[in-house]
Amino acid sequence: MKAKLDAIIQREQAEYLDNLLPASDSLLAEMEDYAAEHRVPIADREVALFLEITARATKAKRALECGMAIGYSVIHLLRGMGSDGRLVTIDPSDEMIAAAEGYFDRAGLRQQVDLHKGYALEVIPQLTETFDLLFIDAVKEEYRGYLDLALPLLRTGGVVICDNLLWGGQVAGEIRSEDQKASTEALREFNHYFVNHPQLRAQVLAVGDGLGYGVKIE
Ligand SMILES: C[S@@+](CC[C@H](N)C(=O)[O-])C[C@H]1O[C@@H](n2cnc3c(N)ncnc32)[C@H](O)[C@@H]1O
Repeated sequence: MKAKLDAIIQREQAEYLDNLLPASDSLLAEMEDYAAEHRVPIADREVALFLEITARATKAKRALECGMAIGYSVIHLLRGMGSDGRLVTIDPSDEMIAAAEGYFDRAGLRQQVDLHKGYALEVIPQLTETFDLLFIDAVKEEYRGYLDLALPLLRTGGVVICDNLLWGGQVAGEIRSEDQKASTEALREFNHYFVNHPQLRAQVLAVGDGLGYGVKIE
């Protein structure tokens, strides 16, 4: 156990780390502003950067994402994957897709994105390719379903990353409102399933809103 369990989540440290992050370029800053203005739940900056660094470090070339929103995480992943990287992403929202496509064009990444309009639980079973990296970031109650469907498509040695596993503190603490109950309870169950999964070596990191991070071992 850590000597000081709450060390990295104290406000002072969190603010320091936030200020330490490298500046977003103008396109990413515009996306962050758009998300804030329209209340679109994009990944925290440190999570997005973690995705880019992981894609680059693992030399991932094919990634699958569940839950695209305006494409903020997609742009980070593809920047980490390089010009021969390809990313399959899934989102049911026309509004999100329209916004994301505009950003992909401006980022010069449109040709590298294979965008499926639909629900991840329905789209993943139609996929046949093999992936190096899986990013789960859609309906919290469905995380286990996404993992079960997508894990056979991930190569051994491939990486799984899941966002929001601490769900604003609710997973380890009190549930704030009735409408958060199902998602929080699902994430509590998912976290145990994820870290004990026989095909994964995995843990939950205190990064962003709680980041699941695992590697497929068999
Ligand atoms: C948290 S946001 C994704 C943020 C994005 N990954 C990022 O960091 O920029 C969740 C997205 O999942 C989408 N979504 C909702 N239900 C879904 C489903 N069943 N399958 C896939 N995506 C879904 C929503 O439309 C929303 O855009």
